[in-house]
Amino acid sequence: MQEISLKKGILSHGDYEAFQNFLQSACGIVLGAGKEYLVSSRLGGLMRHYDIATVGELLSQLSHGRNPSLKSGIIDAMTTNETFWFRDMAHFNLLEQRILPELSDRPGQRIRIWSAACSSGQEPYNIGMVVEDFRARNRGRFNAMTEIVATDISKRILDDARRGVYCGISASRGLSAEQSRRYFVQHGDCIEVRPEIKRQVSFRSANLTQGYELLGRFDVIFCRNVLIYFSCTQKQDILNRMARILNPGGYLLLGSTESLAGHSDQFEMISESGGIVYRLK
Ligand SMILES: C[S@@+](CC[C@H](N)C(=O)[O-])C[C@H]1O[C@@H](n2cnc3c(N)ncnc32)[C@H](O)[C@@H]1O
Repeated sequence: MQEISLKKGILSHGDYEAFQNFLQSACGIVLGAGKEYLVSSRLGGLMRHYDIATVGELLSQLSHGRNPSLKSGIIDAMTTNETFWFRDMAHFNLLEQRILPELSDRPGQRIRIWSAACSSGQEPYNIGMVVEDFRARNRGRFNAMTEIVATDISKRILDDARRGVYCGISASRGLSAEQSRRYFVQHGDCIEVRPEIKRQVSFRSANLTQGYELLGRFDVIFCRNVLIYFSCTQKQDILNRMARILNPGGYLLLGSTESLAGHSDQFEMISESGGIVYRLK
């Protein structure tokens, strides 16, 4: 059997294929050919922790269900949680200048926003910051209750997101000194999201490839920089299900390198404030 030279003995060719199938069915992530190095380097720590010598043995333990935390450990290790503050700023400008004014004119006055792959929390907290600023500027006119629901498949990253404490590079990447003072409390070299922003966001675990109808209906969905990991069929399925839980005229935001082209015709594209947003037809 051919072995991967980087971590000899950990990952055979057959096991790589079996692992690709496992990962795609567990969380939709498609691992292309030639990513053996990624698998062996990301799973190394987990396998040492559980004293598992090969990916074949790991898959066998998974299939026997001997260790329920093994599957979530693999998902934690294999998901890419790259994010930063005010990523794709044009989207936050669109939220402030187009979406919130429009939603606040509606009767009913309850606004629900979903951050559908929230990683360590920067995206939903940024939404909360924009909503807070909009409320402050429109005091007396904007009284809508807002709820931000933030979900991710990785339990480890959700724990980080809930804490809302950022140190090192994540405490500065994308933030100006003024934003850092305004939205955070300083703790030595780390910063913590202010309580009035934190309390707007509720974090939950959700797998985008499975049902998420229980989350309720939304006016806005941020689904940024996650569809890139899925197959074309998965993207279509996810987007169809998102269209079903968006309120009429609701908005969908994708990552700046992602598009709906070929995946859904249920949205119209709006290009404004230097960014693109999709509106349910
Ligand atoms: C690159 S981050 C994007 C974070 C943020 N949306 C942004 O644009 O900065 C991708 C996130 O998607 C999550 N993810 C991957 N597969 C998922 C799935 N099937 N269901 C829910 N979240 C998933 C990962 O755990 C990761 O935190």
